Amino acid sequence: MGIVAQPFHVPALPTVPRRADLPEPSNDARRHSARLSEAIRKEIDIAGGWIGFVRFMELALYAPGLGYYVAGAAKLGGDGDFVTAPEISPLFGGTLARQIAQLLERSAGEVLELGAGSGTMAADVLGELHNVDRLPQRYLILETSPQLVQRQQHTLQRRHPALKDGIEWISALPVNFEGVVIANEVLDALPVHLVAWRQDGLYERGVGWKDGFVWLERPLRPGALRRAAEAISAEADYVSEISLIAPALVRSLSDALRKGALLLIDYGFGRREYYHPQRSLGTLMCHYRHRAHDDPFFLPGLQDLTAHVDFTAIAEAGIDAGLNILGYTTQAQFLINSGITQLLEQRSGDATASRFALAAGAQKLLSPAEMGELFKVIALGRGIDGPLIGFASGDKSRLL
Ligand SMILES: C[S@@+](CC[C@H](N)C(=O)[O-])C[C@H]1O[C@@H](n2cnc3c(N)ncnc32)[C@H](O)[C@@H]1O
Repeated sequence: MGIVAQPFHVPALPTVPRRADLPEPSNDARRHSARLSEAIRKEIDIAGGWIGFVRFMELALYAPGLGYYVAGAAKLGGDGDFVTAPEISPLFGGTLARQIAQLLERSAGEVLELGAGSGTMAADVLGELHNVDRLPQRYLILETSPQLVQRQQHTLQRRHPALKDGIEWISALPVNFEGVVIANEVLDALPVHLVAWRQDGLYERGVGWKDGFVWLERPLRPGALRRAAEAISAEADYVSEISLIAPALVRSLSDALRKGALLLIDYGFGRREYYHPQRSLGTLMCHYRHRAHDDPFFLPGLQDLTAHVDFTAIAEAGIDAGLNILGYTTQAQFLINSGITQLLEQRSGDATASRFALAAGAQKLLSPAEMGELFKVIALGRGIDGPLIGFASGDKSRLL
């Protein structure tokens, strides 16, 4: 970020107060957060007093050795800050595997998972692919967090010792990949820009320092972010996120894909709903020890920061990069189409699974009041013919 020449705009919206109701971190955790805050503060100083929120979020989540995803916090699961669908129920990965199996038949290739978290989804997908005799040649994992790589290795070694040779961690996207790329809740973890639509024009929201992190806005400069903001009709005062990084990832995945499909699962909406007039504060959320709140400046490095996904932007990036939209629907519809009910029946008869726990997990995945409606699945592909089972009914691609 260069030196800022233009005047800052102090937003009318108040900074959210510190949250006294959040659990107290340990002294070690506080020291860790203080080190990261100091690193971010230094960067703000060097940049002339302002960094874009996108850079703040990148440092808070991914600063080497210090960011939330890179350093020691437990993140996923009961001891962590949030749970994801694979952590809720093995039926999620198991059902997803059925769609993957159909795609592997058509692309005869490999599976690449981005951001595999604890490794639970990989283990569940591999388990079901084994059951239906469709194991991929290789199961690749591209994970940016060294700490999570270790956790994934531990999970997969414990759950599938016999598949060890077929699972590989890679550090860059492969070339001429053929097969299926899957990513659950990865797009929402990518840094976003914040834009403010004000009476007197467009501003980029950023972060400065005055006895702590503070919001500062500066006029939005010409460029990709301004073009994206100008394409959205919002009335003042309106603040929301624009993600340039998630569409860029889709373009990179398209470059890497010779034949096959991307299956991207996350919470979000199409653009019209995303930038709805009533959503005038955007979708930025923070998760700390299973409490959701809206203060991204609370103890950087100890909490997750996330924004909903604009699936229209994802679809546009795919189409621009030469991919076809193979389907877009809600998580509930996708899982039902892919056979979650049959899998539930099948596994309920299994003496090792608790029928009650399986049914409760399925309910969370499918209920419109929980994950069923808010979470969406989009499939983008190249060289894949015919309809996909996951979108056989309730395909909402036309709403993107
Ligand atoms: C919210 S967690 C989801 C984890 C897992 N997919 C699940 O559903 O439980 C986000 C994951 O994406 C990873 N991640 C973030 N940015 C990434 C990137 N650019 N490439 C690959 N993984 C990334 C994080 O380290 C983490 O594993």
